[in-house]
Amino acid sequence: MAYNIIVQLCALGGIAILTLGIYRLYFSPLAKFPGPKLAALTSAYEAFYDCFKGGGGRYHVEINRMHDKYGPIVRINPWELHIRDPDWNEVYKITRRASKPMWYYQFLGTFGNTFTSVEADVHRMRRDAIQPYFSPAAMARHQPEVERLIGKLMGRLAAFKGKDEAVNLGDVFRCLATDVATAFAFRTPFGHLDSEDFEHAGNMAVRQFGVLGLLNRHSGGRLLKVMALVPPGLARRLSPASLGVAGFFKQLAVVIKNELDSTPKSEDGEEAKTNIIQQILTSNLPPEEKAPWRVARECNSVTLAGTETTGSSLTVITFFLLSQPQKAARLREEIRRQQETLGRPPRYQELKELPYLTGVVNEGLRLDGVSGRLPRYDPKQDMTYKGLVIPKGTVVSTTQNDTNYSPDIFPEPHTFLPERWADEGDRKKLSKYLLPFGRGARSCLGMEIALMEIYLTLGRLFSPDAGFEMELHETDHERDVALFHDYFSPFPKSKRGVRAFVR
Ligand code: HEM
Repeated sequence: MAYNIIVQLCALGGIAILTLGIYRLYFSPLAKFPGPKLAALTSAYEAFYDCFKGGGGRYHVEINRMHDKYGPIVRINPWELHIRDPDWNEVYKITRRASKPMWYYQFLGTFGNTFTSVEADVHRMRRDAIQPYFSPAAMARHQPEVERLIGKLMGRLAAFKGKDEAVNLGDVFRCLATDVATAFAFRTPFGHLDSEDFEHAGNMAVRQFGVLGLLNRHSGGRLLKVMALVPPGLARRLSPASLGVAGFFKQLAVVIKNELDSTPKSEDGEEAKTNIIQQILTSNLPPEEKAPWRVARECNSVTLAGTETTGSSLTVITFFLLSQPQKAARLREEIRRQQETLGRPPRYQELKELPYLTGVVNEGLRLDGVSGRLPRYDPKQDMTYKGLVIPKGTVVSTTQNDTNYSPDIFPEPHTFLPERWADEGDRKKLSKYLLPFGRGARSCLGMEIALMEIYLTLGRLFSPDAGFEMELHETDHERDVALFHDYFSPFPKSKRGVRAFVR
């Protein structure tokens, strides 16, 4: 009897899977779009590249192969189209009010914040509540603290001068980025720049979290939920590196709890908004959006969004400058001349006026762009691509690097060429295609913090007053710098990092 029921259930399951397969291949509105049949049939195709092939995070390579074979629009999984065309941006237009697909963004393991809000209305409500905190006036107020933290970084690096010990610049810049982001959000940096080994384990854990994130996406969000149930002692044994990330979250939880416990929640006005928690609590959000768990998730996402990204960009830019000393020398000369005219170290707005430094920053952001595709869907209206109708509700994505690495727009795309931004006319033309901070209603809120941090750090590292120079140590572009794994942020093949001696 029980055997018969099992057989009948299996048969029913088989028929359901077969029906779904036939529907996806022949009757789905996406059946007319080109791409591998297996990718149209099951997301297991993507999971193989995301979780197993070459150590994971390799679907970006396969998507590019599909485009080479099938053209600019391809079906990359049963429900998603990917477009490789630098001039197509219909889904990101502010007027479209597109949604973010939860399936893709569940790699982060967290919802309830602005970044991962699905519907446009919910996103707009949450973004409106925190956007004033990122105003130009707030940025200007934050600048002295960013300068102070960069001064600390310079001091830490100077201490390595003459020593036969290479510094891991990836760790150094991630510590700076964490301290800048947490100082911005909470007015108190988390002190990662004080860490003796520049939080090496924590930084490694972020990379490991990228792998877990992809597994989480393909397990329908179950993996991280199950992992949250594992007792801390066992988790430590399974993954010692996760200690670093756990420590960060613990620190975050304490800051948020203290703030929620200690400060009046109804107060309004500039004084009350001394940190992002107060910004949220004194906003017009409805009470349920001010619940402690929601505030915590917003804080987590704002600080995490600002750390790996900015830390990685600074690392890659510094690598390119150190590996091409004539470019570093040209930058030093430009900064020296400006400093001589000013009679003091330049401030952020002044550094932004330097054309070569701007070329350096643009090239760094271009070569180290967010590697993850940025999927969206419009639940209410169809879209079109070159006359082809994309039915409403279809997830559509594009990838910044397709444009960043396009030889038609950026000749010799894999070469670090600040010179390509020198001519004003070229700069105008190229700027249209360089969108490292995303576009539309969901674009980066922290762009000005990131740029301030990058310009000021390079301005000090390559200043005549730096007091030291750096020399790369056993760092290979292909192995230690270039994008290999797409964990939304780009990661190189090896874990060795960009290392340098301080001279
Ligand atoms: C070089 C550094 C950075 C890069 C390249 C970068 C890039 C991006 C991109 C591409 C997005 C859109 C992602 C998507 O569409 O799914 C985004 C969103 C966001 N970023 Fe950044 N980011 C950087 C630094 C920062 C910093 C320093 C902060 C804050 C301290 C920050 C906070 C945010 C937030 C809150 C969002 C979500 C915005 C929204 O959904 O409305 N980012 N960033």
